Amino acid sequence: MTTLAKFDPKELEAKVKAMYRSVAEEPNGEFHFEMGRKLAERLGYAPADLDQIPAEAIESFAGVGFYFHLADLKAGETVVDLGSGSGMDTFVAALKVGAQGKVIGIDMTDEQRAKAERLRDRDGFRNVTYLKGYIEAVPLPDALADVVISNGVINLATDKRKVFDEAARLLKPGGRLVLSDIVTEVQLPETIVCNSTLWAACIGGAAQQDNYRGQIEASGLRMIKTEDNPAYQFISDNARGASRKFGVKSISLLAIKP
Ligand SMILES: C[S@@+](CC[C@H](N)C(=O)[O-])C[C@H]1O[C@@H](n2cnc3c(N)ncnc32)[C@H](O)[C@@H]1O
Repeated sequence: MTTLAKFDPKELEAKVKAMYRSVAEEPNGEFHFEMGRKLAERLGYAPADLDQIPAEAIESFAGVGFYFHLADLKAGETVVDLGSGSGMDTFVAALKVGAQGKVIGIDMTDEQRAKAERLRDRDGFRNVTYLKGYIEAVPLPDALADVVISNGVINLATDKRKVFDEAARLLKPGGRLVLSDIVTEVQLPETIVCNSTLWAACIGGAAQQDNYRGQIEASGLRMIKTEDNPAYQFISDNARGASRKFGVKSISLLAIKP
């Protein structure tokens, strides 16, 4: 089981929202993690794709890996992005699924959605919509999505199984869950799990990697592929220390709904 934080979930939610409000509104501030175009290119995003989406969404990109090669999105597909932030991945997905396809981003932080919506309207991404909601209880019907994507988000959830159950519910049979996230090689000690700042910075909530994959399979999805993303590195000393000591790392993975 994932270790649950001993702090108040409402306090944690407030901290996570405050951090990602800053990511939307002050992307050049100081964070435990890297953001922006240099990171995106190093992780594997094609410059030609990044050139076609809003630069401000790229500035606030706080993902942890690249997974579009695993997603293999096709024209006309419906994609749901769990924790869509300022929208970078929703815009990249929109390029791939085209005008006949649909991309729906879910995020609980109002400032992230507001920024993504403003950029969508300004740049005419008509196939993208955003919904306010929690990834643990997505306000969408069953079997809607060909693909569920997520980047750097599920580590922030205290109940990861609930999120994977939602992904499984949203997918059509044969649909794909494709994501990048932070996991650990060894279980984190309570001193780190109970540090809400490290949790909000995508470290404290990271699950041990076998446990993470086990929870995906327990939700009825079949694991197909997992890759490490060594190009992703934390930047603050605190975060780097934890990362070295406990094998905190970024992975991308593909799972299928049978
Ligand atoms: C690290 S950012 C990543 C955002 C985006 N995927 C990207 O790559 O830039 C995490 C995002 O997940 C959202 N988030 C975190 N926990 C959430 C939850 N339980 N329900 C909905 N959104 C959540 C935050 O508001 C934030 O926008």
